[in-house]
Amino acid sequence: RREERERLARINEVACDYYHQILLDGPEGAAGRQYLRKRGYDGEMARTFRLGFAPERWDGLVEHLTRKGFDAKEARELGLIRPGKEGRGDYDLFRNRLLFPIIDLGGKVAAFGGRVLDDRLPKYLNSPESPLYHKGRMLYGLAQGREAMRKNDTAIVVEGYFDHLALYRAGFANAAATCGTALTEEHGRLLQRYAKKVLLLFDQDQAGRKATFRAMEVLLPLGLSVAVVPLDAGEDPDSFLVKAGPNAFTERLNQARPVLEVYLDALLDEQGDGIEGRARATEEFLARLKLVPSEIERGLYLRNLAQRTGLAQDLLEKKLSLPVAPSA
Ligand code: CTP
Ligand code: MN
Ligand code: MN
Ligand code: MN
Ligand code: MN
Repeated sequence: RREERERLARINEVACDYYHQILLDGPEGAAGRQYLRKRGYDGEMARTFRLGFAPERWDGLVEHLTRKGFDAKEARELGLIRPGKEGRGDYDLFRNRLLFPIIDLGGKVAAFGGRVLDDRLPKYLNSPESPLYHKGRMLYGLAQGREAMRKNDTAIVVEGYFDHLALYRAGFANAAATCGTALTEEHGRLLQRYAKKVLLLFDQDQAGRKATFRAMEVLLPLGLSVAVVPLDAGEDPDSFLVKAGPNAFTERLNQARPVLEVYLDALLDEQGDGIEGRARATEEFLARLKLVPSEIERGLYLRNLAQRTGLAQDLLEKKLSLPVAPSA
């Protein structure tokens, strides 16, 4: 197994270098360079993140690996090469895409994400899971961001590759991206190594809101302090920074509110003022409050809940100490 992992790791490195050189100065990389420039990134950022460009052809990587003395079929296990049908040769997974290598904490390339240069779908294509890549255990940009997380005792969690790049460029290096997947407990434990405070900064849309409250359920039991940064509807951190700039962004960071406060607001908003709605909101909130390890914090939130719902605090306390059925 170990030998196989090393062999696969070498292929990822060779592939990464191949794509990276094309983006930096290959004749086939012009479209990628132009796209990156359009989004405001220079060669230095491309180097820092080892960004690449997969040219518009079917067998660029196959050919490169073969030329380098690899059996290109070995790259199948990484998903970089796909088996051709009926006697036809293998072909590249990534074609005509800007590539983001996902670097593990040992500095090695674990996987790639690739963006189209226009609005074709799918917008992103990612390496499949492999012996080197488990998406539930890896955050994009953590390798580059962890020192700043430690220094600030704060980790900013974003959704996307470009969100991480945009924050880094603006001087907020302490960020990492979930790459659109749900935050897992393992993600949470990784962040916990570097910071006690997590700022959730997902896209301001329905999916992002849902991801925020799911991440809350994962992070609160770890005893992390979790807060939500407000953005305008429809924005993500990248689009907000491009539009409003780093100073406005810092202001937003300072407006971050504890996730449970945001959650309670959302519940009371959604469920309305009726008795049934308030009862449901109370149950939902208590179920989440149980996840908070600190008794003192739970007590403070409970008082807040009592005030907001008009319910007696000792009734809520009783409810909090009873087992709550997980909500659907
Ligand atoms: N994603 C993915 N596959 C898709 C769409 C999204 O893996 N088909 C992941 C990517 O990691 C992406 C993240 O989810 O970066 C967030 O998706 P989205 O908000 O749609 O993209 P952005 O990161 O905002 O990309 P851009 O700014 O380039 O449009
Ligand atoms: Mn796995
Ligand atoms: Mn999104
Ligand atoms: Mn986005
Ligand atoms: Mn975006």
